[in-house]
Amino acid sequence: MKKRWWHNKTAYQIYPKSFYDSNGDGIGDLRGIIQKLDYLKDLGIGIVWISPIYQSPFIDQGYDISDYYAIDPAFGTMEDMDELLREAKKRDIAIVMDLVVNHCSDQHEWFQKALKDPFGPYGEYFYIREGKDGNPPCNWRSYFGGSVWEPLPGYDNLFYLHMFAKEQPDLNWENPALRQEIYKMIRWWLEKGVAGFRIDAIINIKKDLRFEDFPADREDGMCAATTMLASAHGILDFLMEMKKEAFAPYNAFTIGELFDFDQQELKRYIGEDGCFESIFDFAPHLLGGSDHGWYNRRPVTMDQFRDAVFASKAISQEIGMMANIIENHDEPRGVSRYLPAEGQTEQGKKLLAAISLMSFGLPFIYQGQEIGMTNKTFRSIEEVDDISTLDEYQVALEHGYTGEGALALVAEMSRDNARTPMQWSEEAHGGFTTGTPWLPVNENCQTIHVKEQEPQENSVLSFYKKLIALRTAPEYEEAIVYGSQEPFLEEETDLTAFYRKGQEKTLLILANTCSKSRTITLPAPIKKVLLNNYAAPLKATPNHQIPLQSYQLIILETT
Ligand code: GLC
Ligand code: CA
Repeated sequence: MKKRWWHNKTAYQIYPKSFYDSNGDGIGDLRGIIQKLDYLKDLGIGIVWISPIYQSPFIDQGYDISDYYAIDPAFGTMEDMDELLREAKKRDIAIVMDLVVNHCSDQHEWFQKALKDPFGPYGEYFYIREGKDGNPPCNWRSYFGGSVWEPLPGYDNLFYLHMFAKEQPDLNWENPALRQEIYKMIRWWLEKGVAGFRIDAIINIKKDLRFEDFPADREDGMCAATTMLASAHGILDFLMEMKKEAFAPYNAFTIGELFDFDQQELKRYIGEDGCFESIFDFAPHLLGGSDHGWYNRRPVTMDQFRDAVFASKAISQEIGMMANIIENHDEPRGVSRYLPAEGQTEQGKKLLAAISLMSFGLPFIYQGQEIGMTNKTFRSIEEVDDISTLDEYQVALEHGYTGEGALALVAEMSRDNARTPMQWSEEAHGGFTTGTPWLPVNENCQTIHVKEQEPQENSVLSFYKKLIALRTAPEYEEAIVYGSQEPFLEEETDLTAFYRKGQEKTLLILANTCSKSRTITLPAPIKKVLLNNYAAPLKATPNHQIPLQSYQLIILETT
């Protein structure tokens, strides 16, 4: 694999609204990020992806952009952004922006112009189509519920397409003029000094242009728009063009958010000849999912999590590096989701961290993950802000759930679980703001916060630091960053075990993913214990037998 500067980094995702508020208005901001750069540096972070900070009406929390060239005043100014870039550079931290170009906001000037003249040049920036006698052109359902088609205000029988909320009209990538506008904007930011982009919802840019009905998959007579994506061909032409015209000239780091793509085609998406440098590995996150909605999900075990990780690595390690995550701003907290209730302890949190950071790939830590933040408690649906959670709540009600039952369901999966403010200290609102936070802080902010964990040798935070440091320790970097990942004792239940084999060193990661103790027999002697989530030293027997306690995780050097 051809080496790239980002391969040995550890990345961190900032959800800016909830990271750190510098001026007491309850909303995290750019100056807040600047103030915490030393914290990130100390953690060992080399790349920071910031969720959208562009001007936005915040219908979908900034993923609805009304001006790609402006910073939203809630976050600060362009001068703040320039300062952030300078300060990050001093600390050798690369800043990655969110690139949201499948859609924009209905408040964007392009859409406003399209509204005035749907048959003019800006009408061509969107998908505006005639309906069927006042009904939508076809039966596709949007990600956030309801039809993808919204009547164009002021016109009879004209509709525009939105894969997400109706305030997020999809941009027409078939139009070369639109594509050039996007490339120009990308180059403008790269020119400014951002290192690259996390590319939002990008698989959606290619539609099946026949705009025809598909067989209904729910009682509403509609069909998930994602089904249509399978018959939309040619996305790679757009993506390779974007690489050539916008990313490549700047040698930009690019990481795609990609669901619903053909796994056989991975090498077209990542690696040397791919259109992106990396994509997120969502395999574990797709487990248990259902086309029918959250109410129809199945529980997921740690062994299924392991199998999903191993399967992805088996495919990707010959091709390129995918990014490992246990959570992000669209997912519940990983420790609440994947660890069984009994394993949601400090040990369990460290174990999950190790699986993510020691697997082949670029690890991304989502803010608060490094201190073991958990899902929040939802007392009523009124506490929910997230647009997709509100839809899933309705869907559950429509399927016979009581309010309480539906609330319990959304509490498990809600995107708001990860969006509560970062917990910095024992002060009010977790020390996130001196004002009133835009979203209430998690009730456990008194017990889980940075200030308490920073000085503690055995805290979750300190364990993350050790894992990150291990990734780049000169003697292990080659094995951990580039070494092959090979399963060990794959048939065992409640065990995640794998080798990372480099040219010189071999590491073995052993994670007992249950509360029962067990003994594992190794085929070779231990050379060194590199990390252990228990304080007591490991007692191995002469014939390489290793006792593992409840949710114990150890990282060994072996032969
Ligand atoms: C991506 C974002 C998500 C957003 C959606 C629409 O999936 O991560 O937060 O709602 O795209 O932009
Ligand atoms: Ca603020």
